[in-house]
Amino acid sequence: MSIHTILKMGDPRLLKIASPVSQFDTDGLHLLVRDLWETMRSVNGAGLAAPQIGVDLQVVVFGSEQRNPRYPDRPLVPLTVLVNPVITSVGDAEEEDWEGCLSVPGLRGKVPRWQRVRYTGFDPYGDPIDREVEGFHARVVQHECDHLWGKLYPMRVRDFTQFGYTEVLFPELGAADADD
Ligand code: NI
Repeated sequence: MSIHTILKMGDPRLLKIASPVSQFDTDGLHLLVRDLWETMRSVNGAGLAAPQIGVDLQVVVFGSEQRNPRYPDRPLVPLTVLVNPVITSVGDAEEEDWEGCLSVPGLRGKVPRWQRVRYTGFDPYGDPIDREVEGFHARVVQHECDHLWGKLYPMRVRDFTQFGYTEVLFPELGAADADD
């Protein structure tokens, strides 16, 4: 296992549509998943997508077993590895909330997302995943899967008065929590 460098906004690899995984339960896929978890945990992330470590595959990991110190009020999202995902909205309600991104360090913005979504895909063994979720869980999966379509959250910000430096917007978080 190894901790990888997380690519930052401006890197063209973050702007590509990622390739679908064609073979499941391979050593390479399992190693990628372990590296994503290890890299995500090293920076207290809420999720991480393969393109963020320079791997052109439709693989995301997200969730946590315990409360994220950077999001103490947020509900827990189950640890999930999602391969070749498809997301569809359930209803057309949207909600806006603050997001940050490990590839856009030091900034946060208010991003509109579907309030409720169904997501399908596969785990690394090729077993199907099919869930209907809402709220923060729905937001996390939409954010992570956006990385697979070459989208970073600032591209979805509508009101740029609600976009700025974490340390300015949320001074109570302190310098240690300034990076997402
Ligand atoms: Ni992100």
